[in-house]
Amino acid sequence: MKLPETQVAVLEAASADDPTPVEQIADETGEQEAAVRGAAFDLEERGLLTVTERTESELALTEEGEEYAYEGLPEHTLWVGALSNDAHEGPIELGQALGRGGLEDDQVEIALSNFARKGMGTIDSGTIEVDEDYDLEADPERALLETLRGEEGDVDPDEADEAAVAGLERRGLLEEREHTVLEVTLTDEGVNALMEGLEVAETVGQVTPELLTSGEWEEVEFAEYNVEADAETVHGGKPHALREMSERVKDVLVGMGFEEMQGPHVDADFYIHDCLFMPQDHPARDHWDRFALEEPARMDREDLPDDLVEAVESAHRNGVGPDGEGYNSPWDDDFARALALRGHTTNLSVRHLAGVAEGDIEPPQRYFSIEKAYRNDTLDATHLLEFFQIEGWVMAEDLSVRDLMGTFTEFYEQFGITDIEFKPHYNPYTEPSFELFGRHPETGELIEIGNSGIFRPEMLEPLGVEADVMAWGLALERLFMLATGAEDIRDVHGTLVDLDFLRNEEVVY
Ligand code: PHE
Repeated sequence: MKLPETQVAVLEAASADDPTPVEQIADETGEQEAAVRGAAFDLEERGLLTVTERTESELALTEEGEEYAYEGLPEHTLWVGALSNDAHEGPIELGQALGRGGLEDDQVEIALSNFARKGMGTIDSGTIEVDEDYDLEADPERALLETLRGEEGDVDPDEADEAAVAGLERRGLLEEREHTVLEVTLTDEGVNALMEGLEVAETVGQVTPELLTSGEWEEVEFAEYNVEADAETVHGGKPHALREMSERVKDVLVGMGFEEMQGPHVDADFYIHDCLFMPQDHPARDHWDRFALEEPARMDREDLPDDLVEAVESAHRNGVGPDGEGYNSPWDDDFARALALRGHTTNLSVRHLAGVAEGDIEPPQRYFSIEKAYRNDTLDATHLLEFFQIEGWVMAEDLSVRDLMGTFTEFYEQFGITDIEFKPHYNPYTEPSFELFGRHPETGELIEIGNSGIFRPEMLEPLGVEADVMAWGLALERLFMLATGAEDIRDVHGTLVDLDFLRNEEVVY
């Protein structure tokens, strides 16, 4: 038979001949008395044992009795106090004896009357003389008090010294109390079950419909609720840390007077490269790191403005201005119409500068975007196949490198980054060009955080822009790494993310 663990223990501790007190079973099995009682009633319901109740009387000390059990009876204290140092001294002053014993006022009367009753000596006109042969240890009242001290319930009234019980009861030091004893006795069925062998039923934490319909619930033990157990941590939804960083960057740029631009993720090479004065035979244009579209593979020719195509082609072939120089290499609009996922978001800058996005614009202007760019890079701690580029540009009269550097200094300071470094660089569309570097707070390594420059006339003229334009593309993920100390971009997005990091990282400044 399968039974819950406590029930098995109770059955095994019970007997068919003598009723066994529940309290005793609890002692033997180490189970809580309440649990044993519960199991006993369950077993009675199964017919395996009977539960009987019996009242028992027991001797118990009153509060005062308890006190004397530890401190001694007052008459004993008096006897010790009156015991003279010199055996033949004779009676001593009663007051002196009481003082030596240190009895309290309300105990004096009690001490005197019991001293007399027990014949512990003589008291006569203010003097006291002890019977030196009186044996304190033999006083049955004292003996009973001591046995009962802390052992209440274990002394059977019938076996205790009758006179002592009566004496202490009269003095209000002892009382007889009734108490209920629960006892169990095995039934024949219980004996059979034991002989056939008992098995401990499995513990079930969750009630299921199957458990109820199959009747199996009768054979299992239900786990007790542990209201003190740690609750499972619930992770509520929360914006992704990188998203929070992006929002923060937007706030900063808007605060610096920039407007946001948006545009297509898939675009014609014309806007991604040609408008940036990138020659059609430039290695990056047919590079393995580009995600080309197969279907549709090209933008329709009607979707490109004729005058813009003409101006761009002319810049590529002949350059701009009276002494301009082009690339002297073939330029083909078919090639320019090839579609790809943008490898940078500079196509958005081109579209805005050319007036394709929002119509003609006049200086001064400031624009930014925080949008995805796609590159078929080798994945590592600082590269993913896609990343967020913080694109931006300022159009104004007479811009210089100082303006560019000042803008970056102001921007990165908002994120606590004050040690950016500039390195001269080359881009076909900017002159001069600078790469930006920042020091990683954990690894101390210099990491590239962006690319920038002042757009060349060969790029701006075909777009119809007459003012100066300084521009940049910064990596949001790199800024995130510098600002938060994250060491591996794969912890932040992709399939290997560090969930703990994302749950706990707060991008708040
Ligand atoms: N397009 C460049 C890049 O992806 C960034 C850039 C934008 C540089 C504008 C200069 C001007 O690295």
